[in-house]
Amino acid sequence: MTNNTAAPSLADALKEQTREAHTRAERHPVQARMVKGQVTRAEYAAWLGQMLPVWRAVDEGLRMAAARDTRVAAMLKPYHPHAVRIEADLQFLGVQAGVPLPATERFVSFITGAAAGIEVLGVWYVLEGSANGGRFIAAAISRALGIEGPEGLTGFNPHGEAQRDRWQAWRADLDANHFTESERAVVVSAAATSFDAVWEIMEDMQARAA
Ligand code: HEM
Repeated sequence: MTNNTAAPSLADALKEQTREAHTRAERHPVQARMVKGQVTRAEYAAWLGQMLPVWRAVDEGLRMAAARDTRVAAMLKPYHPHAVRIEADLQFLGVQAGVPLPATERFVSFITGAAAGIEVLGVWYVLEGSANGGRFIAAAISRALGIEGPEGLTGFNPHGEAQRDRWQAWRADLDANHFTESERAVVVSAAATSFDAVWEIMEDMQARAA
């Protein structure tokens, strides 16, 4: 913020108001096993299989939102569509995506609804932002499963060395837009819901594994 009249940063609000949700998600045993390099090939493939319908809904939702809202259009870059990377990782592993779990289906319906409004930005924040930690997870999976990369690990590490710059650009592009108070509230709320949704997908994965 450069002066007192500038709008408060929505990127900062998202980070601050979802901090606890992030901590909860990263401590979930499914994530913890991945970042500790304790994951099996089947568990890794299962995670990618659940993320595929989620990202297809995000990619499609952003395309729709960008077509009607110039703020979203200005943020969306050619390197953002992500489902294609997960498809490639699954192909690398030689496995099919499998059936979406109930929590995955619930999240996909939520994303489809969010795509009708500006709240799609809150969903996108959580999914695109996850690449920040994803780089470390990719490194752990690389060691655990002997996948050299980048092929096979692009879902977790989509941007490589450009990660930091692209995330800073995402935040700056978000904050270059004007949002009303109620828009800010629905974006933050959609981000909180998205963190919960990812957590519930991990709960379903754990239940299925047991
Ligand atoms: C073991 C799992 C995880 C680890 C170790 C981890 C780690 C990190 C790290 C180190 C950052 C960068 C923080 C910074 O530079 O300020 C980050 C950012 C972020 N992560 Fe995670 N993360 C994990 C899981 C997740 C999951 C499951 C999600 C959501 C699906 C997620 C969403 C985000 C978001 C949205 C940010 C951006 C925060 C911001 O700058 O506003 N993370 N994470």
